[in-house]
Amino acid sequence: MKRKICLLLGVLPCLTFAAEDMRQLVKMPLEARAEMRAEMLDFQTALNVIIADLGDGKFADAANTAEGQIGLSAMGRHRNAPMNARPGMHMPADMHGIARGMHAAGSDFAKAARSGDLAKSLQALTAVTGACVACHRSYRTQ
Ligand code: HEC
Repeated sequence: MKRKICLLLGVLPCLTFAAEDMRQLVKMPLEARAEMRAEMLDFQTALNVIIADLGDGKFADAANTAEGQIGLSAMGRHRNAPMNARPGMHMPADMHGIARGMHAAGSDFAKAARSGDLAKSLQALTAVTGACVACHRSYRTQ
């Protein structure tokens, strides 16, 4: 019974959210959206690899993946693409700021991970996941 109530309480806010979506709609060309989705799937995969590496105590590997796939080194992936396939060009300034913040947080995490301190690393990783959440909670493309 207790568990059922918890489940219900967990689901309720989501239902409210679905009924009235307060996120800002950002219109992007289909090409930019496709590029963005591909990039997002890479971010998600990178996060999964990073967490697994942290669990295995492979701090250097976690740092390398974060820097290469999410950090400042991963910025500008669409630099040479045509305008309609560059997601960043179609983001409002605040959204773009969150994106840049995510790349910076990826590099900060890499630094923290290289120290070999798990608590510090996890703390730094929440700045990365926090950027995923902040953007997804604020903006939508459809
Ligand atoms: C600056 C905004 C922003 C940030 C930061 C961001 N996302 Fe996204 N994400 C989006 C938008 C917008 C979409 C929807 C794209 C579309 O379908 O048009 C999306 C879609 C996705 C999807 C679905 C892809 C699909 O196949 O449809 C995944 C998974 C995802 N994001 C993961 C992440 C992860 C993990 C992070 C953090 C490491 C992250 N995102 C950070 C804006 C963002």
